[in-house]
Amino acid sequence: MMATLLFLALFLLGLLLALRPLLGPKEPFPEPPRREELLKELEVLKGEVEALSGEEKRLALARMVELERLLEGYRPPAPRARSPWPAVLLLGGVALLGVGLWRYTLPRLPGETTVTARQEARELKALAEKAQRTGAVEDLLAWGRRAYALKAFDQAAEAYLGVLKKDPRNLEALRRVGILLFLGGRLEEARLFLEIAQHADPKAAEGWLFLGNLYFQEGRMEEAIRAWERYLEAGGEARERVEALIAMARAQAQGGKDGQAVYQARCAACHGLQGEGGVGPRLKGNPLLKSPEAVREIVLRGRGAMPAVPLSEEELKALLKFLGTL
Ligand code: HEC
Repeated sequence: MMATLLFLALFLLGLLLALRPLLGPKEPFPEPPRREELLKELEVLKGEVEALSGEEKRLALARMVELERLLEGYRPPAPRARSPWPAVLLLGGVALLGVGLWRYTLPRLPGETTVTARQEARELKALAEKAQRTGAVEDLLAWGRRAYALKAFDQAAEAYLGVLKKDPRNLEALRRVGILLFLGGRLEEARLFLEIAQHADPKAAEGWLFLGNLYFQEGRMEEAIRAWERYLEAGGEARERVEALIAMARAQAQGGKDGQAVYQARCAACHGLQGEGGVGPRLKGNPLLKSPEAVREIVLRGRGAMPAVPLSEEELKALLKFLGTL
């Protein structure tokens, strides 16, 4: 019985020893306490030792001496040797991923954009500080120009409005404030600024570009086309883009002229909203409408009590089409 138990115990011990490496690496020695911990304990003791007395004080002092000694002879724990392969594989993977991302997504070196962005921000800040310090028109202009170029529109607006406060007739500031208002969606005010600026300084191409954009947004095609043409005359750089814009506005002006809108603006007051008649005779169902040439004559030359109504060819065409639907 005893022999069996002993045998079993030995067998279990052997099994345990055999399995030990599989149970995960066990640190054979406890890690030496870390330097910071020792220092901390020393600090605490130093704070407390004054308040202690007798045996306790003696023990605390002894521990302090021990700690001092430990700290003096302290060696940082030697780094454990590890297999380098996981780290190498990991680094390799990260490098491959990085190169892949860089190659396929970034047209420039990683970090380059942030570096330039930071430089630009610093440069802009310096200009802003100088302008705010001196308040001189030249400095405000320099700040505004740089901010505008970097698309820091808030700052550009602040700078150019500062210029206008000092020099309300500064054309660059008038134009740029107009552009900034336009970009901010404040069309009415933008038009005011831009029209003044372009009237006074028709050579400034960028003003024409934005004035054209503004008219276009307001649906005033003819004026948009005219403004863009003046942009090209002033030697604006975005030639192709603006030529395409002009073509688009032309197409829109032709197809988009709404005959009903023309009728309501120019005829409805006398002939009724639906052509039912008023001061002028009824047009709805009027046999005269079957001959567009006659209507054209009447409209352009007037007849009897009806005054001539000058219309462009486009407007007239759209109008005749609309009259055909009455
Ligand atoms: C200021 C008022 C007024 C306006 C605006 C006006 N008309 Fe007239 N129109 C008249 C009067 C009045 C007559 C009748 C003239 C006459 O025969 O003495 C008339 C006549 C006509 C006739 C001839 C009708 C018939 O049966 O003889 C046509 C067609 C016509 N108008 C179309 C138009 C169109 C299209 C417009 C808009 C582009 C227009 N008019 C704008 C007052 C107006």
